[in-house]
Amino acid sequence: MHLSSTLSLVFILPLIYAFPFRTQQIGRAAQDVRPGNYILRYHDYVSDADVLKHEAIIQAKLGIGCTTIYNFNTFKGCHLETDPAGLQAVASPLILSSEPDSLFSISPRPAPLPPVTVRPNSSISTSSHDMSTETGAPWGLGRISHKKAGNSSYVFDASACAGTTIYVIDTGIRITHVEFGGRARYGASFVTGVVLPADDHGHGTHVSGTAAGSSVGVCHGAEVVAVKVLDSTGFGYNTWIIAGIQWAVNVALSRSNTTRQSVISISIGGGYSPTLNAAVTAAVAAGLPVSVAAGNNGEDSSLFSPSSAVNAMIVGATDISDNKAYFSNYDKGVSIWVPGVDVLSAFNTCDQCYFWYSGTSQATPHVAGLAAYLMTLDDLSTPSKILSKIRSLATNRLIVGSLGGSSNKLAYNGNGA
Ligand SMILES: *[C@@H]1O[C@H](CO)[C@@H](O)[C@H](O)[C@H]1NC(C)=O
Ligand SMILES: *[C@@H]1O[C@H](CO)[C@@H](O)[C@H](O)[C@H]1NC(C)=O
Ligand SMILES: *[C@@H]1O[C@H](CO)[C@@H](O)[C@H](O)[C@H]1NC(C)=O
Repeated sequence: MHLSSTLSLVFILPLIYAFPFRTQQIGRAAQDVRPGNYILRYHDYVSDADVLKHEAIIQAKLGIGCTTIYNFNTFKGCHLETDPAGLQAVASPLILSSEPDSLFSISPRPAPLPPVTVRPNSSISTSSHDMSTETGAPWGLGRISHKKAGNSSYVFDASACAGTTIYVIDTGIRITHVEFGGRARYGASFVTGVVLPADDHGHGTHVSGTAAGSSVGVCHGAEVVAVKVLDSTGFGYNTWIIAGIQWAVNVALSRSNTTRQSVISISIGGGYSPTLNAAVTAAVAAGLPVSVAAGNNGEDSSLFSPSSAVNAMIVGATDISDNKAYFSNYDKGVSIWVPGVDVLSAFNTCDQCYFWYSGTSQATPHVAGLAAYLMTLDDLSTPSKILSKIRSLATNRLIVGSLGGSSNKLAYNGNGA
């Protein structure tokens, strides 16, 4: 052994043993905590074999295993159902942190507009070069395809989006809705007691419609996959959400060529969780662009999760007059701004039902759809190239309102005038 490594071993080992329980105890707001449930996160450098060894220790000491083992890209962890004494009993230097499981939710602001049960009266015409114009589109689609406000025609390249998949981590999807034309499918449900990721709330179908609906969506040819992590009331636990992210990453990686063609959309918010942030960052590291709602607290997005996840596309909301939406979180963590007020999209109550929602939840799938759109048109291969492209196409300095440290960038698909 080299002398210097011998020396450092001599000095480092006693430090580890002097402080064997350096696990970071992450706190959560008491009202959000799910008692008896923890997420242990292992250090990035911990090997798969060591994770299994720690599993065996948990089995031996507590007589139970992890409810779920997380192991994708840099994220290795364990959902453990135990009490604080059990948690202490399985402490190990392999563990980076332990965080109580806790509640997250959709955070839309219902718009003061009635539900509608007829398909929007839009029609699409395509020119000889695939460039298409959809008249009568929801205003947000018009907005992201023009440099200036006030034109509701959606201009897009019809050759884009085919072969892309958007994993919608939400309340599920009504996959039979006419907006999806057979392009929606069930992925998985992580909600306790719910087997199918059908949408028993409405939010997930709405978000999916904005990402990929054939008349209300950004990326008309994309497939959407329902990953249900929120229940019929729009709430879900961190452990469910991380399991959903893991599922989407693994499925995307297992399908041929798909990390280059897959996007994750997460319109979910809650208190600050370094564990959830790390799971989102690991999905990006695995090659998937992840669009995440900035949140509706009207505050700094970095105070919440997953809106503070590093390397994700953090999405703020604007209105039809290019004002920052009053509810939108902001500041330097926000990567891009898109429409998120009075967004018309598909709803879960019937196959032709539509609904209006406002929120950064509604802004987020515009960016997920745009990511899928641009990755096919420009053959962009990494999440960072896709986000750079979205930010470089964006129209600068139009948004009115205090954005804090966020760049004043309104998303634009590069097509209409
Ligand atoms: C739908 O739009 C077309 C063309 O703009 C128009 O002729 C027609 O009357 C509209 N139908 C309804 C039901 O609004
Ligand atoms: C994967 O992509 C490569 C390069 O574009 C292509 O040659 C190959 O046929 C693709 N494989 C599948 C299974 O689609
Ligand atoms: C709206 O945009 C479409 C497509 O870019 C264009 O053809 C049309 O002239 C625009 N309408 C107005 C009123 O500017």
